[in-house]
Formats: sequence, structure tokens, C-alpha cells
Amino acid sequence: MSKQTFYITTPIYYVNGAPHLGHAYTSTAADALARWNRLEGRDVFFLTGTDEHGQKVEAAARAAGVDPQEFTDRVSADFQDMAKRMNISNDDFIRTTEPRHKASAQALWRKLQENGAIYLGKYEGWYAVRDEAFYDEEETALKPDGTRIATASGAEVKWVVEPSYFFKLSAFQDKLLAYYEENPGFIAPQAKRNEILSFVRGGLNDLSISRTSFSWGIPVPGDEKHVMYVWLDALQNYLTACGYPEMNGPRAHYWPASLHLVGKEIIRFHAVYWPAFLMAAGMPCPERVFSHGWWTVEGEKMSKSLGNFIDVRPLVDELGLDQVRYFLLREVPFGNDGDFSRKALIGRINSDLANGLGNLAQRTLSFIGKNAGGVVPPRGVLHEADNVLLELAARLPEKVKGAMSRIAFHEALDETWKVIRAADAYIDHQAPWTLRKTDTDRMNTVLYVLASVLRVVGIVLQPFMPDTMAKLLDQLGQGADARQLAALHTPLAEGTPLPAPAGLFPRVVEVA
Ligand code: MSP
Repeated sequence: MSKQTFYITTPIYYVNGAPHLGHAYTSTAADALARWNRLEGRDVFFLTGTDEHGQKVEAAARAAGVDPQEFTDRVSADFQDMAKRMNISNDDFIRTTEPRHKASAQALWRKLQENGAIYLGKYEGWYAVRDEAFYDEEETALKPDGTRIATASGAEVKWVVEPSYFFKLSAFQDKLLAYYEENPGFIAPQAKRNEILSFVRGGLNDLSISRTSFSWGIPVPGDEKHVMYVWLDALQNYLTACGYPEMNGPRAHYWPASLHLVGKEIIRFHAVYWPAFLMAAGMPCPERVFSHGWWTVEGEKMSKSLGNFIDVRPLVDELGLDQVRYFLLREVPFGNDGDFSRKALIGRINSDLANGLGNLAQRTLSFIGKNAGGVVPPRGVLHEADNVLLELAARLPEKVKGAMSRIAFHEALDETWKVIRAADAYIDHQAPWTLRKTDTDRMNTVLYVLASVLRVVGIVLQPFMPDTMAKLLDQLGQGADARQLAALHTPLAEGTPLPAPAGLFPRVVEVA
């Protein structure tokens, strides 16, 4: 990546229901990437927000007996609270009911119209309110009870007939295919790219982009019986935040987005419709859309009927914020589906965090506190084993960088834990507790090496576990200005005073 700006987005979340594990997942992943890019010194813009229009949200407000604006205010506030509690470092939080967004979406509409990409017609076909999506008949199936569902999502579809504006999506097939060809990294992972390629190669129908059967949406400019299709409205949020239509403000330089992180069920909207809208509006397309997998909970799909939605906030209160963040990014290779269970979460906390990193830090730092005067000890002549470990640690930032550029969090963490395990083995081998009695110079060198390794680990793990790594770096005497990757070009300074160490990750004991 040569460019020095990094614009990353989460999908904007529907406010028809409360925030849950799935939302927390996309946001935590985006947060780790935003923080990593800041650590590398890039000018980062990180956007998240809420998707507040459409039939689904209108129905949820009605069911709650509340006016839609009041309802969305309430649920959006809950999403903002979740972002705060998960320590999400977003630079802006966009709501599609804000005036800035309404103006921007209407400006996009006018632009599309001016460029001849919109015409008026009549939509006749299947629509799933739950997915807010139109489906071809081939994409649906009839259930034994006579209801029809979208095969991919299982959402019920209804036959809709209404006047509608259309976007000339069919005219963009070749342009999209050319864009995918010229930008092989645009859609990831590879399996999703193949899926989208074959969808687009199969031919594209024009897309209905307005509705008349309800009113909770952004009015179509010049024809206010229509509201804009919620996905056109929603996707535009990414440009609204950059100041569209005036692309000369303080955030204009962030466009095109570096990365849209999305769940696998919404890749088509981001990798087909969105670039087509942008091409039609004469705007550059995003660099990358990455689709992640879905979590089940204790083996079951999260669903209203099962009532098994997990709110991460009580888990954070009980088991710790960074522990939950770590689990989400470590447990499952990003892009794959995974299963969330309390047992797996606690297992990871105890093995990787309490017994792994926490124990290594505690052993090293309390030993230094007791036996080396509470300062970074002086480094003597390095032995072969010291060099091996120091070199392993020195290569870690590059490895993590590579993994993060491929959005492979589990790999970044796995590489880090290789270093942690090597340091554990090193401690056992070097046995500083024996050296204390026989050779304090050598003991000091061993402790110096361990503190150096912990500094590398603490710095590279900041994007994953910001609060706890701040504590670790405090305990290593590394101030705020010494926490960038660039700080690692300078060796750890001998004699740095170290505050009294305190445990980082308590062991979780489950009472049956
Ligand atoms: N509003 C649209 C996005 C518009 S973006 C222009 C939307 N919202 S959503 O609230 O339904 O979902 C948002 C994100 O949450 C998606 O990335 C989705 O994958 C994620 N998750 C929702 N449930 C999930 C799981 N069970 N597991 C993992 N992530 C899932 O779609």
C-alpha cells in the first residue's frame, strides 16, 4: 500500500433490533485495522453508523408503537453505546436520518438522473423485507406451507407491484467485469470474488431504486411519492461522510475508500450495485470489499425465534473487553464462519491470555522488580539463544503487517503467539532464578532480552487489545510517544524505570 491515507468502513447497521455479536464482530475487526494503520503512520478515517430507513425499520417502529424517528434515535444510541463499550475508535458515526446524508443521497440521485442512468417504470417481482432485497424467481423457493423464501437467506419474499424508478444496472455488466479484472484484489476472499464474477457474468437486470408503498425513506427529488430504495440510500453513507457532493472539504481526500468490511450476505450490494452507482455518478470505486463469515452461537443460528442473540456488553463486563476482542479476532480465520461459545471464549482467555501472554509478562516484570532494581536491566554480551529470540521478535512487525494487509487477524495473532511461546521456552531454559545466584550479569541480559520481546509484542498487539497493551507498555516504561511501530527501530533503553507490575489477564474460574 503506497498511499498514506486509509479509509475503512463498517456496514451501517439496521436499527430494527438491538446490537448483537454480529455487529460487534464487524466493528471490532474494522477497529483493529483502523488502529493498525494508524500505528503504521497512515492518515486513517474510520467510519461506522446506522442504517435507519426502509420498510423493515418502519415495521419495527410500528411494532414498538413508536414514531420511526424516535425509534431510530433510541436504537441508534444503543449502537453508539456498543461502539463505545467495545472501544471502537471510529472517527465519525453516520446516521442516514441526518440532514447531511439526506442532502448527499438526493445529490447522488440527481447526478444519476443527469447522467441518464435512471428511468421510471413499474416493478413487478419478489421482495424480501428482512433482506431489503429484490429477488429473481430463480433465487427463491416455495416452502411446503406455501410461503416463498429467498434461497440464500431464508427470508420470506412477497410479490410486489408498484411504480418504481430503475437504475440501468444492465448497462454496467461489462464495466464491472472490466473493473474486477483490472483490480483482482477488489473482492476478497477469493471464493466471494468467484461468486460475484459468475453472478455478473450471468447478466444483470435493471434495479428498482424507489418504493411507493411506504414513506419511511429519503424522498426522490422531484417525485416525492417515491422514497429511495434503502440500499441506494445506505451505500451512499460512505460518500456522505467524505462531504459529497462537494468533494473539496477536509475529508474529500479519503475517497475512494480503501476497504469496506462487510458480512458475506451483503457482498453483492457492495461489490456489484455500489461500484455501478459510482461509475454512473462518475466517481472512483473503492479499492477493496472484504467479506467475513457468520457466527453461530453454541451451534445455533442467532435468530429472533430462538431468542439467542448475544449482546457482547454483559460479556465484556464479566470477562473483560480485550478478552472478548481477542477472542473474536483469534478464534476464526477472518472470512470463515465460526461458532461462539462461552466455553471456547473462556478457554482462549485462560490458555492464550492468562497462561500465555499474561504469565510471561508477570514472570518477567515481577522478577525485574524484585531482582533488577525495577529498571530495564543492562544488557551484556548476547548469546546465541538471545539472538535467536530477539531476531524472531524483530521479524514480528513485518509478519503482522503482512497478515493485516491480507486481513488475516488470526494469522497476525498466531505469529505473535509464536514469539510468546518462544519467550516462555527461553525463560525456562535460561532460568534467571538460578542465574540470580551464579551470574547476575547474565541474569540481567536475559531479563533485558525478555523485556525487549515484551515491548515488541505490546506494540504490535495494541490494535487488538488497546487498553491492556497500554497497561503492558506502561509497565515497560514506554510512554505514549514510544508506542508506534517506528519506536522499534531503537533498542529498549537500559535503565528505564519500571513501575510496579500488575497482572494483565486474570484467570477465569468457572463455578459449575
Ligand atoms: N444495513 C445493512 C448494511 C448497509 S451498509 C451500506 C445491514 N445491516 S445489518 O445490521 O443487518 O448487518 C450489518 C453487519 O452485521 C453485516 O456485516 C453482517 O454480516 C453482520 N452480522 C449480522 N449478524 C451476523 C452474525 N451472526 N455473524 C457475523 N456477522 C453478522 O446489513
